[in-house]
Amino acid sequence: MTDELPVRPLTELRRRRSAKWQRFASDVLPLHIAEMDFDLAPPVKAALHEAVDASDVGYSSAAPMLGEAYAEFAADRWGWQVDPAAVTAITDVGVGVVELLRVLTKPGDAVAISPPVYPPFFDWGPEAGVRLLDVPLRRDGNGYRLDLQATERAFASHPAAYVLCNPHNPVGLVHTADELAALVRLARLYGVKIISDEIHAPLTLPGASYTPLLSLPGAGDVAVSVVSASKGFNLAGLKCAAVVTGSARMAGVVQEFPPDSRWRTGHLGVIATVAAFRDGRPWLDRLVATLDARRTQLGELLRDRLPAVSWQPPQATFLAWLDCSKLGADDEPQALFLDRARVALEPGTRFGAAGAGFARLNFATGADVLDEATARMAAACAG
Ligand SMILES: Cc1ncc(COP(=O)(O)O)c(C=O)c1O
Repeated sequence: MTDELPVRPLTELRRRRSAKWQRFASDVLPLHIAEMDFDLAPPVKAALHEAVDASDVGYSSAAPMLGEAYAEFAADRWGWQVDPAAVTAITDVGVGVVELLRVLTKPGDAVAISPPVYPPFFDWGPEAGVRLLDVPLRRDGNGYRLDLQATERAFASHPAAYVLCNPHNPVGLVHTADELAALVRLARLYGVKIISDEIHAPLTLPGASYTPLLSLPGAGDVAVSVVSASKGFNLAGLKCAAVVTGSARMAGVVQEFPPDSRWRTGHLGVIATVAAFRDGRPWLDRLVATLDARRTQLGELLRDRLPAVSWQPPQATFLAWLDCSKLGADDEPQALFLDRARVALEPGTRFGAAGAGFARLNFATGADVLDEATARMAAACAG
């Protein structure tokens, strides 16, 4: 039995004012948006309390502490040596990707993405004035993988950039070092820039090994990473992420961000992120063990109660990508689960056309909630 993180009773969780708890009526179990139900890591809580008690809530001033804390975290977690000066604070991952696209592309350029993928990937490109080129993940009996052959064909048409998701939401895939090295080789060969969204990296689960893209030889010349503590430590509302570069050339890209962007990061977000990266590692270990247990529990519950639903347990994240196509609920199984089970999941189609018949379930919650949700879902399918 792992030393699992506790979860407050639903009556208390429902008092939260964040998106997860406000969207649906109180009889709905909300397992949709990617917020976790665990309490904050104690060092993060303490840092935030200390800041509020000192009325330390002015504009953020992230350098050098954010870069130093991230470099310490990356070295400890993954043996990746990061230059603290190559870490730039940004409002959130979405803003980081959009600002990078604005510098790295021209209006009308093509930018490749690999659906099924986190829905804002479909919005960030158009927001930056580019058009999207789909290079879907390849699916076989063992789950999803990057399709390197299709990627090469796409790169041969010279898109300006590729937005990578590693680990990949919603399928929980952690790309291997070999696949990433192949991607870097293709990017160098065809002159494509890679923007790598690595927000889920701290949530790599036992059995998988995450490779930071910029730790690979030659990657720094063609790639930029966007990282954050917001998924691993549940800090999304505090608005702090970071762009990491690995070459003077890419550091120059960050210099081209709008001058005002440095004022758009949350000060409490920087404080919480520094505390998380520097002092939150023991808590993160406990979180990962808890999510591993929840992943196992969900596998057993699906097998016993919802045998028509299939999945590949994720290698990272707290998100389960459920293939519900055998339920006969057309392309929108989440509508069935919301109407008949009062369980809210993310519609698979939000992640691209390949998501038809799928739903995404957030299992970063208590064992009792997962038990109740799957029981209700099974009853809804039977009824
Ligand atoms: C892959 C991915 N990128 C980015 C985000 C959002 O990050 P931010 O709130 O920092 O923009 C999420 C949120 O779930 C995500 O899953």
